Amino acid sequence: MNQLQITAFGSPSVLQLAAVPDTVPAKGQVRVRVHFAGVNPIDAKTRAGLGWAAAQNKDRLPWTPGYDVAGVVEALGPDVEQLNVGDRVCGMVGFPLTGGAYGESVVVAASELVRLAKVDLDVAAALPLAGLTAWQGLFEHGELRKGQRVLILAAAGGVGHLAVQWACAWGAEVVALAGPDNHGFVGSLGAKRVVDYHDANWPALVGKVDLVLDLVGGENGRKALDCVAAGGRLITVPTITAEQIKTAGAERGLEVRGMLVHPDQKQLAQMVTLLEMGEARIQIAGVFDLAEGALAHQAIESGHTRGKLLLRMNTHA
Ligand SMILES: NC(=O)c1ccc[n+]([C@@H]2O[C@H](COP(=O)([O-])OP(=O)(O)OC[C@H]3O[C@@H](n4cnc5c(N)ncnc54)[C@H](OP(=O)(O)O)[C@@H]3O)[C@@H](O)[C@H]2O)c1
Repeated sequence: MNQLQITAFGSPSVLQLAAVPDTVPAKGQVRVRVHFAGVNPIDAKTRAGLGWAAAQNKDRLPWTPGYDVAGVVEALGPDVEQLNVGDRVCGMVGFPLTGGAYGESVVVAASELVRLAKVDLDVAAALPLAGLTAWQGLFEHGELRKGQRVLILAAAGGVGHLAVQWACAWGAEVVALAGPDNHGFVGSLGAKRVVDYHDANWPALVGKVDLVLDLVGGENGRKALDCVAAGGRLITVPTITAEQIKTAGAERGLEVRGMLVHPDQKQLAQMVTLLEMGEARIQIAGVFDLAEGALAHQAIESGHTRGKLLLRMNTHA
């Protein structure tokens, strides 16, 4: 099977195709014939040599990026009872150390996967990491309650466009931050108000909220502190600037928390159900062949993706 590997950290061109044997699943594992893999900003950051996963893998290259898969189970290891060969599945796999989704097959723990009934495999590959980040940011860390007002930064992006929908489905009032080209899109997802982050005065336009889901970090993450109501909270998701935003919050007596997404089969199944019921939708911004992984990374690094980017495997029917 073919997979994308990096043998050194660097620009997108370090992503190279390699032919390797299929792996035999061990106890509790299954092998998935991958149809689509999701592309996330962390894939590009790790490829560039930044962050925890890069530090942990620097002496274990070659490494295959990718944490989001959707495909068909083709082999079972011992003691796998909840899945069968032929099941259509998706999952957030090998996070954050092993990755491996950028390939035509991957061996993963059965406990990382959710069976799909009606959802298409491209849509399913776009869901896991972004969907779980949005879910956990809003509900686990943010403890969002029905009727509360929540501000979502980067609301048109991979995580943001799902966060808008999860928060609306939960009965919160969503205020969204997005560039002008995305206002119609974010409004169509249910946001009550969309504010342009290019307007220097945007915190005043937003007003006070009970919860901020900061998907941008840096200067705009810090500015969003102005919007936190008394007793409110800001969850800052980009890990690279989390400490500085926590410090800025502490100086103003505001509660700021960072987070790292974790796999959760039950939450993933709930999100799949929302998609199957038509209660939420995934925006696919672009689909690249596996061999075009470098182009997909250039696209995600633009920082202006609307929704999600995917890699398509040759196994795709
Ligand atoms: N800690 C964790 O576990 C975790 C998990 C997942 C993601 N993350 C991080 O969370 C961030 C968001 O992830 P993602 O997958 O949603 O990224 P993404 O899809 O690349 O986000 C793209 C969106 O960001 C918006 N944007 C760009 N610059 C902005 C700015 N200055 N102010 C407001 N919005 C801006 C763009 O909106 P316009 O096109 O309208 O400009 C675009 O819609 C990334 O930094 C990612 O690494 C962390």
